[in-house]
Amino acid sequence: MKLNKAYTLTTASVLAIAALATAAQAEPKTNMMHQWAQGSEAAAIAKLGEMFEAAGGTWEQTAISGHTSNTLAKLRSDIVAGNAPAAVQLKGPEIAEWNSTGTTANLDEVAAAEGWDDVVAPELTSVMKPTGSWVAAPMNIHRVNWLYSSTKILNELGLDVPKTWDDFNAACDKIVAAGHTCIAHGAADWSDATTFDSVVYGMDIDLYRKAFQEADVDAMRSQGMIDAFAQLRKMVGYMDDGINGRSWEQSMTMTMTGEAAFFLMGDWTVASANLAGFKEGEDYLCNQTPVNWGGNGFILNADSVVFFQQSDPDYIEGQKLLASTIMSPEFQVTFNVAKGSIPSRTDVDLSKGGFTQCQQQGLADLKASVSEGTLVRSMAHNMTVLQKFRGAMMEVITEFVADDSITPEEAANQLADAVELQS
Ligand code: BGC
Repeated sequence: MKLNKAYTLTTASVLAIAALATAAQAEPKTNMMHQWAQGSEAAAIAKLGEMFEAAGGTWEQTAISGHTSNTLAKLRSDIVAGNAPAAVQLKGPEIAEWNSTGTTANLDEVAAAEGWDDVVAPELTSVMKPTGSWVAAPMNIHRVNWLYSSTKILNELGLDVPKTWDDFNAACDKIVAAGHTCIAHGAADWSDATTFDSVVYGMDIDLYRKAFQEADVDAMRSQGMIDAFAQLRKMVGYMDDGINGRSWEQSMTMTMTGEAAFFLMGDWTVASANLAGFKEGEDYLCNQTPVNWGGNGFILNADSVVFFQQSDPDYIEGQKLLASTIMSPEFQVTFNVAKGSIPSRTDVDLSKGGFTQCQQQGLADLKASVSEGTLVRSMAHNMTVLQKFRGAMMEVITEFVADDSITPEEAANQLADAVELQS
């Protein structure tokens, strides 16, 4: 008995020492897959690499050009090929979907050690903890429903920033009559959907919730959705003829330089505008996109990182180090200042560290929207329905923008049909 006990203790100690030795020998490494291939987005993610290396890690990245759909397609094919990435930028319901396959790593240990539950914005936790365990490290909160206005054009025509969609149309009529382009836009499925997010939300928040959060096909076929497509059709008329092949950064520049009056886009625009030297208040104003129901609105998008199980101890150590780096207050300031977003931690003071007025306004509006019960997540940015539904919806929206022979009634029905086909 005595011998057995001693033997058991010794075995346990040896195992513990061996485990420690493995962890000690492991050299934290990562290869993060993400969609931020150029411009201010690449500059922002480079900061993560720098901080990870400063903390002793070896950083590699795989940047997938295009938008989220391309990253998601690459993720799927890598996993099918048995080559799961160590870390990937993954959002919204896709996090729960991949978590349910049993291939993701559990972050509870690092989350508990660092008290994530106490500091992460409550709007994000259910997305990051789909079944109660942390599976994603949230990097930020982006606001989708921003309207950037050209101060030059507003001043020239003595116009105020429009607050409702009727105001918006009236302003555009004046702007077009004065010989300017009203809306700067670049044709891409996700930017068409970004605009439509704001239109549906601003016209009818209940419709937004039913159609875009719950994928309710009756809501998609409703008169409200037909009216929203009619508004979108009007807005296509306020764009110039050069939208095909134009990037969102190029569209942004049109508004910043006064070539176009308005640009509807998320707050990654703030980062890009800052990087290009444009100035808030001087070149442009930022306000929420129009709402017909008064009050403050916030369409939320959040970038986060999910880790897939690895067998190489270096990559396992790298996952812990990367998760911890992402959640550090220092990273939350540096990255979000560079990304245009607001931190995912609630304990960061935005009046310090270089956050712009637009970013500070974003946080104030987030709080107001939460208390007014108007907060929604973004369909266009993968925060509500699975990619298969989002992809089907974006195809209909983008076709509608490209082809003016499609009527609003047809588009509303096509939206519902497309989603039904995927169900
Ligand atoms: C991502 C942002 C990105 C934006 C434009 C969004 O879906 O969440 O990180 O800046 O797309 O590319």
